[in-house]
Amino acid sequence: MSALLKDPALQLRPMDESDVDTVTEVEHLAYEFPWTAAVFRDCLRVGYCCWIAALGDELVGHAVMSVAVGESHILNVCVRPDMQGQGLGRKLMYRLMGLARAHQADTAYLEVRPSNRAALGLYASLGFNQVGVRRSYYPARSGREDALIFAKELGRYLPRGSGAMRRDI
Ligand SMILES: CC(C)(COP(=O)(O)OP(=O)(O)OC[C@H]1O[C@@H](n2cnc3c(N)ncnc32)[C@H](O)[C@@H]1OP(=O)(O)O)[C@@H](O)C(=O)NCCC(=O)NCCS
Repeated sequence: MSALLKDPALQLRPMDESDVDTVTEVEHLAYEFPWTAAVFRDCLRVGYCCWIAALGDELVGHAVMSVAVGESHILNVCVRPDMQGQGLGRKLMYRLMGLARAHQADTAYLEVRPSNRAALGLYASLGFNQVGVRRSYYPARSGREDALIFAKELGRYLPRGSGAMRRDI
């Protein structure tokens, strides 16, 4: 386990309105086409699961998911660039999957750019499989980029560290 994950100052907690400006800053550092503050506020307003990872007072990651009628849609998982590669993305995903299970979701869905190697590696390592493609879905530097649709049946496959996932519920 990385030193970051062992740090007692690292906590996952629900996002609130007062986090949105800093979350948006992290979002802009991590994505070429980031969500705006208004999008995060809408997600909070409609009651999506919005979580942040905090290291002491610093926000170092965030994640957003909708859950409805047996399905969960993971809409955003983001780790501040200087904190990437230390297991935080996986930890945020465990938290979302634990919450989805707690809301009786059978399946988790998400979309990802085929160029996003880190995200593809993360989702594959958690047992997500590609189930479809949305052509020209995302804006890209030149033109548009497809979205690969990934899904995972929740509850059947317990990935490495699933004990941590149960504690995260
Ligand atoms: C995708 C993202 C959330 C991953 O977070 P992270 O904290 O860096 O990832 P972790 O350290 O938890 O890594 C978990 C697994 O993901 C995979 N992974 C992470 N970075 C990778 C990379 N650069 N290349 C390939 N696989 C990678 C590995 O399988 C890794 O497991 P391992 O360390 O046992 O090999 C992070 O890179 C990020 O915030 N990117 C910008 C925002 C984004 O693209 N979000 C996803 C939108 S679909």
